[in-house]
Amino acid sequence: MVKIAVTGSTGLIGSRIIELLKNDFEFVELTWPKFDITQKETIWDTLKNLNFDLLLHLAAYTNVDEAEEEPGKSSAFKINVEGTKNIFAAVIKRKKKFIYVSTDFVFDGKNPPYFENSIPNPLSYYAQTKLEGEKYVQQQAMIVRFSYPYRTYFKAKRDFFRVLKYWLEEKKGLGLVQDSLITPTFIDDIAFALKYLFLHYSPEIFHIVGGDALSPYEAGILIAKQFKLDKSLIKATTYQHYFGNKSKRPQFSEIKSKKNNFYRMKTFEEGLIEIKKQTMGGKRRKIDYEDGG
Ligand SMILES: NC(=O)c1ccc[n+]([C@@H]2O[C@H](COP(=O)([O-])OP(=O)(O)OC[C@H]3O[C@@H](n4cnc5c(N)ncnc54)[C@H](OP(=O)(O)O)[C@@H]3O)[C@@H](O)[C@H]2O)c1
Repeated sequence: MVKIAVTGSTGLIGSRIIELLKNDFEFVELTWPKFDITQKETIWDTLKNLNFDLLLHLAAYTNVDEAEEEPGKSSAFKINVEGTKNIFAAVIKRKKKFIYVSTDFVFDGKNPPYFENSIPNPLSYYAQTKLEGEKYVQQQAMIVRFSYPYRTYFKAKRDFFRVLKYWLEEKKGLGLVQDSLITPTFIDDIAFALKYLFLHYSPEIFHIVGGDALSPYEAGILIAKQFKLDKSLIKATTYQHYFGNKSKRPQFSEIKSKKNNFYRMKTFEEGLIEIKKQTMGGKRRKIDYEDGG
């Protein structure tokens, strides 16, 4: 069985990958704080004798707004740039395969659609650090870009789908951007697409992204429709108004792949239908899927 070491395995995406693929691969979870990617010595101490074939590097500083606002901007740089360099150096020294996880935010969203060979031009500090990580590992590693990941349930953190659903359930009004595009990606599909890439490794860029792009406003309306929530709570707003004083996201983040001919990624509507199935038919009690306060 292929042995995969994983950083960031407790996060939104990593924890679901392991849940879904644990019978297909042997995962070795390298978890913070015991394994801190900013600590070079700890990394080498752990990796020098570790039995693994490939390292999936998901660990990152992922708070886009805080990365922008932090004085000195040191945390995102330390984790996303220096942390990536540290872990990559150790993996290369061990002559093992490396997969770096990146984001659609490396693009500026001005000239969609974006394919694997499109030219990045990040708008936010978070995205700059992720691109710097890409540049450091490119040619020698596989780079996999994800976009607006969402899943049925994850206790530690709400993704954009669950934030919108929660607001609608709480009957709070919400303004969603209409003149913008996002490409939501069902995390279960990410896991199954990665299953193929783990077995067909090559050091190049892949976009593992959802089957369609839509505006956040349209995404909200679809959530209301699928979960029978009140769509009149959703008001259309503009990109300029919404992101006026926030860290900038790409306005038209329509992300596509020229290379993914191995796993069919769901559209957002298909993802929501699958979530409904999992919520009702899952092994967990329904209460476990409810967001609460
Ligand atoms: N979420 C998105 O919208 C999105 C979109 C596109 C791409 N991505 C990329 O996908 C990857 C995973 O994202 P995610 O949403 O699953 O992230 P997440 O939920 O924020 O999880 C981040 C993970 O990194 C770990 N971590 C943070 N600092 C660390 C350190 N110094 N040493 C070791 N581990 C550390 C965290 O550990 P603790 O839980 O213990 O803090 C956690 O397991 C990231 O590379 C991100 O850039 C995310």
